[in-house]
Amino acid sequence: MDVERFAMLVGERLRRPRRNERRSRGERLADALASLVRSGDLLAETRLPSERALGAALGMSRGTVASALDQLAADGLVERRHGSGTYVRPVAAVDPPPPPGSGPDGAPDTGTGPGADPHTGSASRRDPSADTPEPIFSRWIREGTVVVDLAKSVVPDASLLPRLDLTVEDLLDVHPADGYGLLGETRLRELLAEHPAPPGYGPDRVLVVAGAQQALHLTADTLLAPGDRVLVEQVTYPGLLAAVERFGGVPVIVPGDRYGWSPDAFAEAVERHRPAFAFTMPVHNPTGAVAADRRVRALASVAREADTLLVEDRSLADLVLTDGPPPPVPSAAAYAPDHTVCLGSLSKTMWGGLRVGWIAAHEPVFARFVQAKRRTDLATSALDQRLAVALLADPGAAGRRDAWRRDLRVRRDHLADLLAGQLPEWSWSLPAGGMSLWVRLPGADGEAFADTARRHGVAVSPGAVFGPPGGTAAADRIRLSFGWPEPVLAEGVEMLATAWAEHRSRR
Ligand SMILES: Cc1ncc(COP(=O)(O)O)c(C=O)c1O
Repeated sequence: MDVERFAMLVGERLRRPRRNERRSRGERLADALASLVRSGDLLAETRLPSERALGAALGMSRGTVASALDQLAADGLVERRHGSGTYVRPVAAVDPPPPPGSGPDGAPDTGTGPGADPHTGSASRRDPSADTPEPIFSRWIREGTVVVDLAKSVVPDASLLPRLDLTVEDLLDVHPADGYGLLGETRLRELLAEHPAPPGYGPDRVLVVAGAQQALHLTADTLLAPGDRVLVEQVTYPGLLAAVERFGGVPVIVPGDRYGWSPDAFAEAVERHRPAFAFTMPVHNPTGAVAADRRVRALASVAREADTLLVEDRSLADLVLTDGPPPPVPSAAAYAPDHTVCLGSLSKTMWGGLRVGWIAAHEPVFARFVQAKRRTDLATSALDQRLAVALLADPGAAGRRDAWRRDLRVRRDHLADLLAGQLPEWSWSLPAGGMSLWVRLPGADGEAFADTARRHGVAVSPGAVFGPPGGTAAADRIRLSFGWPEPVLAEGVEMLATAWAEHRSRR
């Protein structure tokens, strides 16, 4: 990590000495460093700057820094690796131990065995997943208090949902009655096949899943063996990258223009990389670009001829922000049905809290997805599905979707106006769809600015998370959600303007 940025983060946490303060400088420095690690602001495996460099940046002696780092190592917060440096340990691995008897099934923890912590002598209650932290999600959506959250492109609350005349008994009236319908409730699959799944899929080719993020995980689980390649755009959806990473796939960037891949570039990449699948979004997150039918048809024909699969994420496909009725968003399924898998959810048109998504595919791929669903969680919550049936079957559903699109259009324009007025150096193209602006910051690193913005109370998504690790295509970008009501956007932009002034003054 860059020493100046690190010293700044530490400096913010370094308490001034109180009168009659007994704690030494080294101890106060250790406190500040510990708070930085525990807050999760430093990712596991982050290499800290050298003692010498940190001492120089903080105006402290090397010995003071060394004693603080030794203290942190003794507390299990960092690891000193001989000849290599000091590294942050996973937060979950350094949480204070739970009280005795609170282990699985209330079994007391004996504090011995292979997981015993070398520093405390007690078993380190490691969350097994702490050894494989999800770098993409933890860099993208960070925990902690912010006043305005422009990082998450979500429906802010459940107010888009109508009042339903439903009793608990109605919700419990599920089929099959045991609640374990593997494919999902028949009525829900019928409704999803009508919309939002694109034409061409009967209900028997629609699988209900727990949101589009689960659909992406099932995609990676079904289609990838470790080392398999996945073609992605230079800027793509982080949730897909996380799923590919989780199942050992290797994302390969295929450059394109703002409307996606040219058929030639795509054909060449398929030929060269023989991917397990190629990932597309007809309404793109984060750029908001809407795919043209001509392109989609050409890519579908390449996929068919080269016998490769297109995975089409249609999560935002209902959010084309035209004034009047939106044009249908094209699908490769219309041109290469046997070489396309479509997926999406109700999260962006109804509410993310429903956790209802869908996957549509033809055989034999469909059966493989069903098996992946079975081994993942057996079935999607039957209660969520009952609610989704009532919401989709409600006669006002299409009208409410249109009203939401109109609201989003107004909010998009409002955010763009606010930015143009208060942050004239920033640039973006007004997106034709989606829920966010993809903003370029002149001469600044999006990740560093996201940190500054967060300290001012506003969260933004750094551009770098929208590409495979190491990719630099979007390092100077941030994504700002415009899903929020206008007063929230106004407050957020004010904070962004203050944060930007501070950020620039430091450069
Ligand atoms: C393109 C895309 N795919 C998947 C998801 C995950 O959505 P869900 O809430 O349905 O899991 C999102 C949410 O932002 C998205 O934008």
